[in-house]
Amino acid sequence: MLPWNADCTKFPRMLIARTLPDLRAACASLRAAHGGLALVPTMGALHDGHRALVKAAVASGAPTVASIFVNPLQFGANEDLSRYPRDEPGDLAALESCGCALAWLPDVEIMYPPGEATTISLTGPAERWEGDARPGHFRGVATVCAKLFGQVRPDRAYFGEKDWQQLQVIKRMVADLLLPLEIVGIETVREADGLALSSRNRFLSPADRSVAPLLNRVLRETARALAGGATAEPVLQAARQKLADAGFGVDYFALVDGPSLAPIEIAIATARLIATARLGSVRLLDNVAVI
Ligand code: PAF
Repeated sequence: MLPWNADCTKFPRMLIARTLPDLRAACASLRAAHGGLALVPTMGALHDGHRALVKAAVASGAPTVASIFVNPLQFGANEDLSRYPRDEPGDLAALESCGCALAWLPDVEIMYPPGEATTISLTGPAERWEGDARPGHFRGVATVCAKLFGQVRPDRAYFGEKDWQQLQVIKRMVADLLLPLEIVGIETVREADGLALSSRNRFLSPADRSVAPLLNRVLRETARALAGGATAEPVLQAARQKLADAGFGVDYFALVDGPSLAPIEIAIATARLIATARLGSVRLLDNVAVI
């Protein structure tokens, strides 16, 4: 058996746990030394969007735990789990360079023990949009996050606003289950041309990559029109058409109430414009505030 934190020669400033006893020991010693803990749940293949989450957590002053676990429960039968990018050495180096205190790398048997029979069932913000496009996806996300919250017992957990619906689903679950932590949303990190960073962008062909920033441009233009008082449906329809003309397969482009994800017809204070559109085999998600 490898000694505790066997990777410490490669990552001298960061602890690495791969078993529950090691995670508990590391969390207990960090908590004893510093008070609370912050958690950044990830599936690895880290980019600057994840780095922003870790940096925000570290800046809060709490020792930061980042988990890397490619969660099979949130992938549908027609979604290729094996194609999900993996780069453990690169991810660990990225976490350490951002000041992460502890990397948590559980395997499937730890997260889903034999005989397990419990998952989180969701309604409200998990319905519609990604909930329709990817049945069971949010059940998988919520279940794994609930397990991570129970394992690490953080005071705060950090999620990107890019996955707006996921952020609202997790906030709702934490409120409904009375879990003792705060969920913090962090603004989407973008390429210079506006494309939201995503682990899946690497699968865009060069031609699709050059078209991809249009999704954010159209979202921003539409948000401006709606904030200026335009009636939603004609503006939304024009936006869908513009994207379709450029080669996107638009799954949805909708004006919603930000926290509940319910569709709305005029831009209220909590309005959010959300969209998912496909280029080739890549689904691009993005959203903007309507102010
Ligand atoms: O956003 C992600 O990377 C995943 O959905 C999460 C929150 C780490 C749960 O597996």
